[in-house]
Amino acid sequence: MWLAAAAPSLARRLLFLGPPPPPLLLLLFSRSSRRRRRLHSLGLAAMPEKRPFERLPADVSPINYSLCLKPDLLDFTFEGKLEAAAQVRQATNQIVMNCADIDIITASYAPEGDEGTGTLKIDFVGELNDKMKGFYRSKYTTPSGEVRYAAVTQFEATDARRAFPCWDEPAIKATFDISLVVPKDRVALSNMNVIDRKPYPDDENLVEVKFARTPVMSTYLVAFVVGEYDFVETRSKDGVCVRVYTPVGKAEQGKFALEVAAKTLPFYKDYFNVPYPLPKIDLIAIADFAAGAMENWGLVTYRETALLIDPKNSCSSSRQWVALVVGHELAHQWFGNLVTMEWWTHLWLNEGFASWIEYLCVDHCFPEYDIWTQFVSADYTRAQELDALDNSHPIEVSVGHPSEVDEIFDAISYSKGASVIRMLHDYIGDKDFKKGMNMYLTKFQQKNAATEDLWESLENASGKPIAAVMNTWTKQMGFPLIYVEAEQVEDDRLLRLSQKKFCAGGSYVGEDCPQWMVPITISTSEDPNQAKLKILMDKPEMNVVLKNVKPDQWVKLNLGTVGFYRTQYSSAMLESLLPGIRDLSLPPVDRLGLQNDLFSLARAGIISTVEVLKVMEAFVNEPNYTVWSDLSCNLGILSTLLSHTDFYEEIQEFVKDVFSPIGERLGWDPKPGEGHLDALLRGLVLGKLGKAGHKATLEEARRRFKDHVEGKQILSADLRSPVYLTVLKHGDGTTLDIMLKLHKQADMQEEKNRIERVLGATLLPDLIQKVLTFALSEEVRPQDTVSVIGGVAGGSKHGRKAAWKFIKDNWEELYNRYQGGFLISRLIKLSVEGFAVDKMAGEVKAFFESHPAPSAERTIQQCCENILLNAAWLKRDAESIHQYLLQRKASLPTV
Ligand code: BES
Ligand code: ZN
Repeated sequence: MWLAAAAPSLARRLLFLGPPPPPLLLLLFSRSSRRRRRLHSLGLAAMPEKRPFERLPADVSPINYSLCLKPDLLDFTFEGKLEAAAQVRQATNQIVMNCADIDIITASYAPEGDEGTGTLKIDFVGELNDKMKGFYRSKYTTPSGEVRYAAVTQFEATDARRAFPCWDEPAIKATFDISLVVPKDRVALSNMNVIDRKPYPDDENLVEVKFARTPVMSTYLVAFVVGEYDFVETRSKDGVCVRVYTPVGKAEQGKFALEVAAKTLPFYKDYFNVPYPLPKIDLIAIADFAAGAMENWGLVTYRETALLIDPKNSCSSSRQWVALVVGHELAHQWFGNLVTMEWWTHLWLNEGFASWIEYLCVDHCFPEYDIWTQFVSADYTRAQELDALDNSHPIEVSVGHPSEVDEIFDAISYSKGASVIRMLHDYIGDKDFKKGMNMYLTKFQQKNAATEDLWESLENASGKPIAAVMNTWTKQMGFPLIYVEAEQVEDDRLLRLSQKKFCAGGSYVGEDCPQWMVPITISTSEDPNQAKLKILMDKPEMNVVLKNVKPDQWVKLNLGTVGFYRTQYSSAMLESLLPGIRDLSLPPVDRLGLQNDLFSLARAGIISTVEVLKVMEAFVNEPNYTVWSDLSCNLGILSTLLSHTDFYEEIQEFVKDVFSPIGERLGWDPKPGEGHLDALLRGLVLGKLGKAGHKATLEEARRRFKDHVEGKQILSADLRSPVYLTVLKHGDGTTLDIMLKLHKQADMQEEKNRIERVLGATLLPDLIQKVLTFALSEEVRPQDTVSVIGGVAGGSKHGRKAAWKFIKDNWEELYNRYQGGFLISRLIKLSVEGFAVDKMAGEVKAFFESHPAPSAERTIQQCCENILLNAAWLKRDAESIHQYLLQRKASLPTV
């Protein structure tokens, strides 16, 4: 294929160097091919077959990239000039690089001296695409209402090759001299500070901005931004210049993130005992942005909602989210950027670690958030839910083709990764953990590392068998269910423990059940906050003697819900724990873990759902936000399941009964002395009651909504989501029109998102259709379409069907919009997971067989598995749940 040919996507190209001399031949080397499937040998899971892929040869590698880019913000094209100093280790007549969707104009290579070095020169052109990857355009509206575009980048995982030809693998590090030719009235940013800015000779409207040379780094961390922004600035205690860039006129909204960043940098410097290596760090809000944020070294990009906080219009959960995301991305500046994973197989190291330490950092900056408890409901239980599926995958997974890489940015890499690091940190202790981290970061700085390298450093620091323990968690998928029963032997309690893989579909069947090395803690009612015993369970079965435990004391496993396992207690042990929920003597995170374990045991058919409903009723005195949040989530799952039955209303009654006492205690308005968690709890409870149709809540929500719309009394930011949700769910076409008007008027993306997420609560078929059409309209940013459609699917029974039909009918447009990537996986997951009829699993599978989405293949298999699990659950328990709800209603006093 010759130069003039259209650039195929994801091509790896061979640049043939002389002899023979030019013309330069450009060959398409590899092409994405559709995956075929074969059944797993055990017949448990249809695992995808590997797609053809080869890593770049190691004979030629870059030393320095000198890269100049000239984007045209009106034509949406860019011109590029690359001069790469390369090292040739072995005589060759070809240089193999990555390059996708750009056209090469000229290319040449000139050797220099005898050392095997030389300069590769390539001139090229490309399109500033609208797919939120590579070098792309992001749309914004100026304060005067004019629509304009910024040019921005998103390279992780494999899209730097869309902006310039490069060795696009994380282990091929080099330095970068970047310059940008931009209109003189635009802001131009890159990883490093500006060292020169001069008029561009050919055009007086342009300037050439030159940035300082970067340290050696991976291509996926390179970034540049050209657009119109304001900023706020500070210098952190350790001397780094920190700026937060915002849309024009919104600099104030950058202040919160600026404070967080300025506190976070010294925190990490101290924790790792390694300074931040660049002179500056910019955090910038990008209007069109697929992920939540991206850790480009020195120039971290964010969705607007992950960075901007308006004191009046931002809710408490947004502040918390901004703090977590800033904490996450800044951690990557060390863990990921300074020390980078050797290959994407070790992506979890980056993401799991950052997803753990972001909590440590937020706990340091905002102790009042009680963020570690929130970790359990946000990450730990989410990871267990996914990892109990036959279609899960090990944390460390061999990946090659870019679509396989995209696929592993999932809850296993992030949330299970973070959870096993939390367990490890607890097992090692903070002091040795910190020491090991410093050894690791110092030893591998500016280099690459693999999972084993981290284990080795932590092993050296702690003297504990880290690799042996951790390999059982990262190299095999799933996690154990620990079954425990107890016997009183005189003054002691004898515990019999056994472990077996936990499966969402019930017990593990098959021989050779995987085993884990499980750090287990055991507490008793004597001191519920302290481990009485810590053991490492390294066998399938173990007996443990707890000395001096009185017969009336309870015994509990997994203090703090830190161990990545679920527990099944004998009925006697469980019975003795339940009063600790009612009288709050069990710590909050233990109450949460206990309830969550029981819920998933019920879903797996190991215990009955009615048993869990009874436990849920024991939470009458519960004051803790996170405990409620997890309970609410599980009741939501159950409601969705029962929306397939004709007694959906009965479960709504149950929800109202469970939530009304706390609703009454909280009321609508904050009381003096209340804090962050009270605000979160109030929003959660009122939303739940309103959605379930609790009469008093509905009336008050309508009253406050009316005052809000009429401008009489603006709703506080924390009350907006629950009120919007309530009035929409129980409203009509006029309510929807008002919401859409509020959406149009909203100046903040946070408010737009808030509205978008609740639109799916609407119940009437015509209105549901209107919301779906709105999701694909110009009014909704492309990255947010997913949550609007997902909201419809999760909003009601009719919504679920309508959303699925909508996806099928608009598949081409949706797929084209996201070009694969993780947003398409998220869309599929949100939209089909709620089905609970066997035949839907077949329908979903068949649809994606004829409409392939390579980066979502595993998600699709997980969804089909979940649909079958739902169907089995419904068949098994619907009748007994119905009977229980009826009996319960009959026994309640009538008001
Ligand atoms: N490195 C990721 C960004 C990313 C995600 C790139 C997916 C390519 C594909 C970044 O560090 C990240 O993890 N961002 C999170 C937010 C974080 C707070 C969990 C995200 O985008 O969701
Ligand atoms: Zn990350």
